[in-house]
Amino acid sequence: MNLKGQVAVITGGAAGIGKAIATRLAHDGASVVIADINAELAEVTATELKGFGIQTDVTQSASVNQLVEKVTTDLGRLDILVNNAGIHIQKLATDLSDDDWDAIQNTNARGCFYACRAAARVMMAQDSGRIINIITRLGGNPFSSAYIASKSAIWGLTQCLALELAPYNVTVNAVAPGHIGVGTGMEKWFRAKAELLGQDWQTFEANVLKTIPLGRWCSPEDVAAMVAFVVSDEASFITGESFNVTGGWTGYGTTPPRQAKGSL
Ligand SMILES: NC(=O)c1ccc[n+]([C@@H]2O[C@H](COP(=O)([O-])OP(=O)(O)OC[C@H]3O[C@@H](n4cnc5c(N)ncnc54)[C@H](O)[C@@H]3O)[C@@H](O)[C@H]2O)c1
Repeated sequence: MNLKGQVAVITGGAAGIGKAIATRLAHDGASVVIADINAELAEVTATELKGFGIQTDVTQSASVNQLVEKVTTDLGRLDILVNNAGIHIQKLATDLSDDDWDAIQNTNARGCFYACRAAARVMMAQDSGRIINIITRLGGNPFSSAYIASKSAIWGLTQCLALELAPYNVTVNAVAPGHIGVGTGMEKWFRAKAELLGQDWQTFEANVLKTIPLGRWCSPEDVAAMVAFVVSDEASFITGESFNVTGGWTGYGTTPPRQAKGSL
């Protein structure tokens, strides 16, 4: 894909899937901006990719607005926004506190809205742009009600924005990663599930893989490849869509509902 001359902002781009997306977009020629709450790691990743690190807390609209202003002032444009920053708190719904619910909605749904709103204003003026929202495969999943609710909100936002921004040649799509077992922030939740089910990691992994038709874990690079396609010229006629990168997995996650009794 040729992204030469394009400026891409990746929220939560310092680590995990976001870093893989930033790496891929930089490889394809874009100037990448790592917008992460972790300033130190944002700088390390930005240096590695010859990009720019800007500390950003997506839960704060002022922080997000400053990010977009700095990018447009310093780099002159904003072509690609990847809303990747996200958190998960894995609990039964009956164990979720008010603060748990707010933390998840604020980072995932509110943060995505703030960034879409700020970037869309710039992209409308440019008469071009690509917004990619990282969600998850939507559906029932024990221990994930607040998380799935936040990602469902993003999916609703994606579909509405796609219509509102289409007249300005801005496309808005969602990408839904499958299970990524190691090397991302989600790893601790998979390990907790293995423990909950009384399984050692090898047994748990074998059981997870049985639910994935293509027979392996999703990798951050699999997700990055889909993002690279959706932001490319090849995808200029695609908007308001969601793309699962799940190896064919369609089930309810890694914890059978009856075994979800009890709490993590
Ligand atoms: N890993 C998986 O299996 C998986 C599966 C489906 C969807 N996802 C989604 O992919 C995205 C990335 O997940 P990951 O597993 O790579 O996570 P991760 O924890 O490895 O990385 C998340 C990054 O976001 C940053 N971040 C957190 N809060 C922030 C905030 N308020 N403002 C700015 N940056 C913030 C973190 O510092 C970190 O660098 C998330 O939206 C997640 O919901 C992950």
